[in-house]
Amino acid sequence: MASDAHIQTRFGAPPVQPPPVVSTQRLAALQAFNARLVCMTVDETSYEEVVRGVGRVVGCDSCALFLHDGSSEELELKASVGHDGVEPGLRVRFDDAASIHAQAFREEYLVHVDDLREQPGMAGIDKDMASVLVMPVISNRGPVGVFEFASRTPEAFGPEDIGLCSMAVDQMAYSLENMRLVGELSLTRDAVIRGMAVLAEIRDPCIGGHLSRICAYAGYLAERLFGRMGYHEVTREFIEAISRSAALHDVGKVGIPDAILLKPAKLTDREFKVMKTHTLLGGQLLQGLIQDFGEYTVITMGADVAASHHEWWDGTGYPAELAGREIPLAARIVAICDVYDALTSKRVYKEAWTQADTTNEMMSKAGVQFDPELLKVFLADPAALEAIRLKFAD
Ligand code: C2E
Ligand code: SIN
Ligand code: SIN
Ligand code: FE
Repeated sequence: MASDAHIQTRFGAPPVQPPPVVSTQRLAALQAFNARLVCMTVDETSYEEVVRGVGRVVGCDSCALFLHDGSSEELELKASVGHDGVEPGLRVRFDDAASIHAQAFREEYLVHVDDLREQPGMAGIDKDMASVLVMPVISNRGPVGVFEFASRTPEAFGPEDIGLCSMAVDQMAYSLENMRLVGELSLTRDAVIRGMAVLAEIRDPCIGGHLSRICAYAGYLAERLFGRMGYHEVTREFIEAISRSAALHDVGKVGIPDAILLKPAKLTDREFKVMKTHTLLGGQLLQGLIQDFGEYTVITMGADVAASHHEWWDGTGYPAELAGREIPLAARIVAICDVYDALTSKRVYKEAWTQADTTNEMMSKAGVQFDPELLKVFLADPAALEAIRLKFAD
């Protein structure tokens, strides 16, 4: 009976219980897998490698990755391991009432069944499997597919396994999104690896959450500007591009020493001077990519964003002391999203602020630090901002 499939977690909502402790050994395996993911190139065989990698980390009998095929209302099996006679290309319709894969995708819920063989109303993809865990794969653009973990043994997945699976899937969602973006750049393999390595080397914890949120906030603000008088620069392409290039704002932090980047206290003036160079470094790095591999909107915009996201509207920011509309629009947008996310998040050097405190602080800097018109549009709907924060909570 369907009631036996319990929904464990509502993605996007705070967990009801603290996440279970995952053993160091398994975390190390996950970390090693993450390191491989960031070096991966984009083609159909990478799905197989992703699925194999996740399977090894979790140590279950079989795994499968389904992605939403944009042109239909179906999930398509991209790769699986440990399932006999299940071939890539298998499709599941979203509205298939019996399919636990469709259910997990539709409801953006984790579906966990202790023994599928005892559930005549529910369909998996392999009759040999008893315990099945299906998790939605959610990138910063929303749900993109589902990942299935399965085992021949009933009740194989305990809280620790579920915690680990969820971390592996989150990491994978982030990497799949990067692979997809990078794939669209149609750059060479070298550029892919270099770009990913750069992103990966930013050693700040919680980076995935921060990057996803900042992209979501930036896309959200750009969306709200779309069609507004005076913002003809904000086309559909601009919105698409900024939703990606926002992630590149701090790539220059790769060049900042740990002692400064990770200092759990206020920076001295001298340290802050070094820290400020992350803007120039990031701009140069992306300009370098453009020189080596050609113009591409996301990277060109990323270079603007990286270089100018700490400029202030009144001209007192850094590194170039640009003022007002001299600051590229994309950078003015990201400046707002970056500070909003920095304030509402915990950092090594500070606690998270409430939304009200954040809004007040930012409003007091309208026309000083921030483009006042953009800020007003951004802060107009607090519930929408809160929804984004919760959706990509660390
Ligand atoms: P970040 O942590 O991502 O912060 C981005 C921006 O958010 C900051 O740019 C600043 O404009 C704003 N922000 C963050 N926290 C606060 C706050 O408590 N109050 C106010 N009013 N604004 C805040 P900023 O200042 O140019 O800093 C750039 C980066 O430098 C920061 O990025 C962070 O990585 C580093 N940083 C800045 N101050 C400190 C510090 O005291 N200690 C450490 N360890 N790092 C710092
Ligand atoms: C534009 O969209 O044409 C520019 C708007 C702005 O820079 O604020
Ligand atoms: C990042 O964007 O690299 C992380 C910024 C931070 O957490 O300070
Ligand atoms: Fe920055």
